[in-house]
Amino acid sequence: MASILKMNLSGKRKQLYEGSSKILFEGPDSDTIIAHFKDEVTVASTNETIAVAGKGALNNRISEYLMLKLDSLGIATHFIKNINMREQLVRRLDVIPLQVVIRNVAAGDICTRFGMEEGVVLPKPIIEFFLKSTNLKDPLVTEDHIEAFGWAGAFEMEEIRNIAIRANDFLTGLFLGCGIRLIDFKLEFGRSFGHDFEQVIIADEITPDTCRLWDMKTNVKMDQEGVKLEGFPPDKGYLEIARRLGILPETSNVEELYS
Ligand code: C5P
Repeated sequence: MASILKMNLSGKRKQLYEGSSKILFEGPDSDTIIAHFKDEVTVASTNETIAVAGKGALNNRISEYLMLKLDSLGIATHFIKNINMREQLVRRLDVIPLQVVIRNVAAGDICTRFGMEEGVVLPKPIIEFFLKSTNLKDPLVTEDHIEAFGWAGAFEMEEIRNIAIRANDFLTGLFLGCGIRLIDFKLEFGRSFGHDFEQVIIADEITPDTCRLWDMKTNVKMDQEGVKLEGFPPDKGYLEIARRLGILPETSNVEELYS
């Protein structure tokens, strides 16, 4: 396993980007990218990186599963196929520079901003837009900013809102079915150009790195906050989420995920 990993990382592929949880490489064609999921979590407040063995493989599998489920509802995503345990082939898109956060329950940033208590169920799902800009610390932006500064058009924003609401309804039900509350999650979007038309589709990843997922009975944080705040090993969170979704490989050897 370790030798395959090394080969994947040090092969001849051109690296396009390295973030806290993924490395992106050029794909085999000009319109594809290979996403490599890392075994690391970065604590935003301290910028400290924590190694979380097995996380990359679990996130690769969880994102594949959730993207394919959305695709089966007619919600297009950039996912093409999994290549190996921690890498997937995705479509290269014209990235819309926004993080779209959908919140069902107050947690994180919204609590800080409005002095709300964590865990309060929101009267309706709230969609927020943040500009993807590390230098500016991803500021909250309004739809007026987005249109005025040309980050996305009015029609694209309508599409993004519709997809976000549909994805939220579906994912909330999917997770509830396995005893997990979807507190909030982040989506990213990009433009895909087909024959003469442009389509806004879901990009990036949908994983416990980008969702707040709490156990329905105990409210234990099963996502990256569980690892960061409560020091959980991934088997208390990520692995349990994958297990409840029923997507661990049949021959699953947990040791393999940690090697
Ligand atoms: O920090 P905040 O409360 O705004 O996060 C809302 C949701 O968006 C959380 O599920 C978090 O994991 C996700 N998020 C993300 N990447 C960011 C910021 C937030 O995936 N850069």
